[in-house]
Amino acid sequence: MWNLLREHHAQVADRRFESLVDADRAAAFSAQAGDMLLDYAKTNIDTYGRAMLIDLLDQTGVAAKRDAMFAGAPINETEGRAVLHTALRNLDGGPVMVDGKDVMPDVRATLARMESFAADVRKGRFVGQGGAITDVVNIGIGGSDLGPAMATLALAPYHDGPRCHFVSNVDPADIAGVLRGCDPATTLVIVASKTFTTIETMTNARTALAWMGGTVRDPAAQFVALSTAADKTAEFGIDPERVFGFADWVGGRYSMWGPIGLSLMMAIGPDAFRAFLRGAQAMDVHFKSADWLENLPALLALVGIWHNQICGYATRAVLPYDNNLSRLPAYLQQLEMESNGKGVSIDGDALAVPSGPVVWGEPGTNGQHAFYQLIHQGTRVVPCEFLVAARGHEDDLHHQHQLLVANCLAQSEALMRGRGLDAARAKLAGRFKDAELERQARHRVFAGNRPSVTIAYPQLTPFALGQIIALYEHRVFVEGVVLGINSYDQWGVELGKELATALQPVIEGATGTDGKDGSTAALVGYLRRNGV
Ligand code: F6P
Repeated sequence: MWNLLREHHAQVADRRFESLVDADRAAAFSAQAGDMLLDYAKTNIDTYGRAMLIDLLDQTGVAAKRDAMFAGAPINETEGRAVLHTALRNLDGGPVMVDGKDVMPDVRATLARMESFAADVRKGRFVGQGGAITDVVNIGIGGSDLGPAMATLALAPYHDGPRCHFVSNVDPADIAGVLRGCDPATTLVIVASKTFTTIETMTNARTALAWMGGTVRDPAAQFVALSTAADKTAEFGIDPERVFGFADWVGGRYSMWGPIGLSLMMAIGPDAFRAFLRGAQAMDVHFKSADWLENLPALLALVGIWHNQICGYATRAVLPYDNNLSRLPAYLQQLEMESNGKGVSIDGDALAVPSGPVVWGEPGTNGQHAFYQLIHQGTRVVPCEFLVAARGHEDDLHHQHQLLVANCLAQSEALMRGRGLDAARAKLAGRFKDAELERQARHRVFAGNRPSVTIAYPQLTPFALGQIIALYEHRVFVEGVVLGINSYDQWGVELGKELATALQPVIEGATGTDGKDGSTAALVGYLRRNGV
């Protein structure tokens, strides 16, 4: 099938896909999940290519694997674990069995405990030494940071709780900057770490404990832990009452639906958090039940595979025309690149096709004044994914939102249509002549024929955010299955961690650079001479 797809691509690669885009195509190459629309009409995928891509889903057994995932089978094969973040939002669904046991009672009990604790904090029933909690500091990294940080920002219009801050980097500048603005006597620290061993998080947690201990008699009483490792949270001194546990079948980058989402729940409240879960659950139901031709995660995955593995476009830009989604690209970088950035298939064989793409992006319209130059006129094609809401939350500034939307649609139109040399000449004819006209006109040519998809929704509510994130999670799953990848491990992060541990005494000067390569030894030398 890969070869057939490549042959098809070779035949249509030079076609201007704009010629395909009439009103019928807009309907035929779009789909909806509830009120969320995915438009992929502005791509070079035609009915024939799409049929082959859908065959790929069937040949690689996506439906069976999807059902196995939802049913709690250990599809994370290198770690022998189930993959059940969907259980965390299975609010009114049936039982979910892992090793013969229904996990839903525990999931519901933990959610209820989170809700009760969040309500206590928000209503001033749980207090710090100095009174009601004014600030919540979430200390975590990767999946224990990016999800809640992204979502807390995305749902800023719904905040009615304490201020929430996020500390992730081991760079002391991060924690120092956040703690500077907080009062230890009214701050709650959440240590979010699935393993409770991650060096950045544990270092920052100890720094925060010492900071609080400078003012507060019993600092650990203002600490909360979100972790699968109850023994380690106890060792740290956190009362089991304030430990919110979860099972190992929740992957770090898929974890914000459970305890790791506590900071978000503090900010927006338990009801809005439930709406967020319901949005994701609605996308789960859609993913499980919709035909491939109507199935948003499957279609988004097929577009991704067409662009990356077939057309050879190595990167993918995520461009939210929704400023509150400004951390979405960073969140998706972990979700997609930690999941599908693998060199071998589940069986350990080298991948026959490239692994997942490089994901990057920034909100529009800001990106338009920065890197869109390359997207429009650079020599590399960057498939773009636009996200846009029909309405913002600033009712009195709706006309400004309309300008935002106009910009979003203008970009995908410009990428598709481009501007030819004749049109460029015509625009400049009054200003330049002859050779100079020719020279200037060439700088104003846009190749066009550059693909994009648009995800549109009525408003960025908690429900809509849940839909968007679950859509991307399932897209990553489908792409992973088609590529034969285990999307749920992350062995590629281990080597750097091991070497950092070994390098720390070298950096401190306790041991020398023997055995280090010349470049690393020279860098250590420079940094030591300059005071590291
Ligand atoms: O180093 C990668 C990683 O393991 C991620 O997968 C994970 O989200 C992050 O580190 C944080 O891990 P933890 O929640 O265990 O601190």
